[in-house]
Amino acid sequence: MNPVSGLSLTASGTIPQELLDLPWHLPLIKWPADVLAALPRGISRHIVRFAYLGGSVIAIKETSERAARHEYRMLRQLGRLGAPCVKPVAEVTGRTDPDGEPLSPALVTRHLRFSLPYRAVFNQMMRKDTLQRLIDAQALLMVELHLLGFYWGDVSLSNTLFRRDAGNFKAYLVDAETGELHPKLSAGQREYDLEIAQINIAGELMDLMEGGFVDEDVDALATSSQFIDSYRGLWQELTGDTAFNPDQQWLMEERIRRLNELGFDVEEYDIRSARDEGHLLLRPKVVDPGHHQRRLMALTGLDVQENQARRLLGAIDAYRAATDPHGDEAVAAHMWTQHVFQPLIGKIPRDLRNKLEPAEIMHQLLDYRWQLSEREGRDVPLEEALSPFIDEELRGYRDEAVLMVNPPTDVMKQMELGVSPSATGEDDSAHDEDSSAWYS
Ligand SMILES: Nc1ncnc2c1ncn2[C@@H]1O[C@H](COP(=O)(O)OP(=O)(O)O)[C@@H](O)[C@H]1O
Ligand SMILES: [Mg+2]
Repeated sequence: MNPVSGLSLTASGTIPQELLDLPWHLPLIKWPADVLAALPRGISRHIVRFAYLGGSVIAIKETSERAARHEYRMLRQLGRLGAPCVKPVAEVTGRTDPDGEPLSPALVTRHLRFSLPYRAVFNQMMRKDTLQRLIDAQALLMVELHLLGFYWGDVSLSNTLFRRDAGNFKAYLVDAETGELHPKLSAGQREYDLEIAQINIAGELMDLMEGGFVDEDVDALATSSQFIDSYRGLWQELTGDTAFNPDQQWLMEERIRRLNELGFDVEEYDIRSARDEGHLLLRPKVVDPGHHQRRLMALTGLDVQENQARRLLGAIDAYRAATDPHGDEAVAAHMWTQHVFQPLIGKIPRDLRNKLEPAEIMHQLLDYRWQLSEREGRDVPLEEALSPFIDEELRGYRDEAVLMVNPPTDVMKQMELGVSPSATGEDDSAHDEDSSAWYS
């Protein structure tokens, strides 16, 4: 079945013929342009390329056999645990060129739709507060991974992908090569990961500042320390003790509500008595991210990110208050999906649908409507806000579904010219021979 003898593909499901048909007998840098998808990617040690596979896009990384196997296994395990990370497709070994010379094994992952490498997030000058949100997303990702017992070993902005999430970002792990899964991480392992993160993030921010991509008043070292503070704050909130007296049940409820607010469900908690003064100690044992995501999914079937879900749930509440305040929540959610969300999204012109995810469009439209209402001093209906929103806001976005599948001509020109690394902020020292593939 394999077109090249000796080629071996390991995958969890069936292997599509298109995957076998890719030119595995050529080194990745020689793959013809017609199979490659020109998308931006972060700095990497290895050669990484994107390719079309049927209607979707995959990322291919040439690496050692050991690393490919390890990373494939790590990503599969993380995926099973529900971690926010890229999905592995296959591990490819036994590649040889037409002369029988061995070629590097490869790891294939699914391209994460609507994701941006951090340098693409910074394509325009990054404001300080946007940077803070990016850093908070990175800290939350690290907390989520640590809760699952994952030691990352190479935490950095380059090894993370970001998706817009209703005014915030959601971070996903992209590079699991150095990762290890343990039943539980020790404090020492977590601290070690934090140390690496702090150094890497400070370095990456300094690079960006040199390239003029960040506000001048940003302090790289202070920002990487804020990352640590954000991590510690979250970790404490998610795993620390709350002391309460037996007659202070409300303190316990308050703690759980705070966790819900942060986007976590408490699946299990421990209550034990403290050594002193008859206090009880509450400690969450199993916390599960995606509190609002699950609620929205149950009510509407929409599968969106956490902050988007929070926002859409708010919109459903407002819709319910305006239409049938005493009615059933599930009915209101259904009506809102059918009569508000879907019709509005359906009116987005086809050529603009790759700009942002539907839930993100809805979030931005809600914001836009609010601003418009304030400007005009009246309640502007969503339908009325839609058309100016499309013209004034949405058209201005780049396509973020799979960025640049059909690059606009100016981007094509830049690519043909092979935009210099300094012009785009690319790091010269990073191993990536084809700087023209990076652009923003
Ligand atoms: N599945 C994917 N979806 C989107 N981008 C990806 C994917 N896999 C890799 N990339 C991009 O390629 C870059 C390099 O990948 P990475 O696994 O970090 O390589 P390395 O091990 O050489 O550092 C990432 O920063 C990311 O921008
Ligand atoms: Mg990497």
